[in-house]
Amino acid sequence: MPEIPDLPAGFTFGAATASYQIEGAVDEDGRGASVWDTFCAEPGRIKDGTTGAVACDHFHRYVDDVALMKDLGLDAYRFSIAWPRIQPSGQGPANQVGLDFYDRLVDELLAAGIEPAATLFHWDLPQALQDAGGWQSRETAGRLADYATLVGERLGDRVTRWMPLNEPVVVTLLGHALGIHAPGLQLGFDALPIAHHLLLGHGLAVQALRSAGATNIGIASNHAPTWPASDAPEDREAAALYDTIYNWIFADPILTGAYPDGFDGFMPGPVEEDLKIISSPLDFFGVNYYQPAVVAAPGNPLPGNAIDEVGAMPEGMPFQVGQPRGFPTTGFGWSVVPDGLREILTTFQQRYGERLPPLYITENGCSYPDVVDADGSVHDAERTAYLGAHLEAVRQAIDAGVDVRGYFVWSILDNFEWAEGYGERFGLVHVDFATQRRTPKDSYRWLQEQLRGRADQE
Ligand code: NOJ
Repeated sequence: MPEIPDLPAGFTFGAATASYQIEGAVDEDGRGASVWDTFCAEPGRIKDGTTGAVACDHFHRYVDDVALMKDLGLDAYRFSIAWPRIQPSGQGPANQVGLDFYDRLVDELLAAGIEPAATLFHWDLPQALQDAGGWQSRETAGRLADYATLVGERLGDRVTRWMPLNEPVVVTLLGHALGIHAPGLQLGFDALPIAHHLLLGHGLAVQALRSAGATNIGIASNHAPTWPASDAPEDREAAALYDTIYNWIFADPILTGAYPDGFDGFMPGPVEEDLKIISSPLDFFGVNYYQPAVVAAPGNPLPGNAIDEVGAMPEGMPFQVGQPRGFPTTGFGWSVVPDGLREILTTFQQRYGERLPPLYITENGCSYPDVVDADGSVHDAERTAYLGAHLEAVRQAIDAGVDVRGYFVWSILDNFEWAEGYGERFGLVHVDFATQRRTPKDSYRWLQEQLRGRADQE
């Protein structure tokens, strides 16, 4: 059994979820439709034909779920607020009953001694805003700020950490360039303006949250160290381009106030004034990490399977993207490369130096086809090994001088894995979706023991 390495005093251990993936109750308390309700209803979009309409039924079971988190010994819980519960049509005054749910959740967490960390936009855009242009429209950035004000005013006194956006690169790439996620657009490179509108929404929402009295504001941004498939100059060039698009188009404007060289021109400009808003100071920067990317020039050999999601690159793209070979893989087929986490954290430190606020790992985790045994246990030794190895990578980054303050496991519960449906189980707790029965896995028990050990030492 691995042991959690020594991490600095006050290091935060958390777990993460998102509204559409766990809540269910899509028609309750005045919630409006989101782009994911629409997307799931379209035949062929979701692998197993399922939807998030019930998911983990967390909306009704949050008290039990918070009890599981408390028992586990978590310091913090990262959840997302469903925008269409707060503004069913995407604008206008708050639906107070919708806000009430998060008010109850936050109080339940605080009573359990768990710090609430809230994401504002984890992909469930109100459908009404999509109908008005969605993230293709600059207006949507302003709508995110209005929504941030409503939520900040109600919960700003109690939520400990805020993240206006989750993974803007995935919204841009999978949702708007490749059409694998809602809203299912296939714009290819013409999706770049989406990145700008998301970033502007982020900056405006940071400012709105602060004006509403919220403190401790950051982002949860997905990052992947990017490796050329070979030393051939064209592979290196293709990898550098993909690295810029995947990693730095999002982090550079936020942390330096400028797009990587040459990318201003792809954005709906003039962008100068917007960049001042986008680079509003943050209290922390959250990195979601799953695996590195291996990139080859078109036509060159790509060792390693094309990553499912980005393997569907339209013809004519200037890169092919795969995953590293020679590593164990998760149930999803993703490569397990803990050192990639150390690498991306130290890359952040080298790239941004003193401009870099404290880092958090806002997501890291793995899916396996976990089953409940006859004796009621779930043996997921691979997840335990995964978590132990990634925490060790975090420790190495800290030893190398990176200021990492916390780590959130994705996820506390098995849940609705977007286009994959319910097939990919990422939870520390197994969920039987037919009965809603929760069964803590062995990895949960392991983490519980480790966290108890830490608490005893403090
Ligand atoms: C990132 C996303 O934020 C989350 O919603 C998703 O379930 C996990 N990665 C796993 O794919």
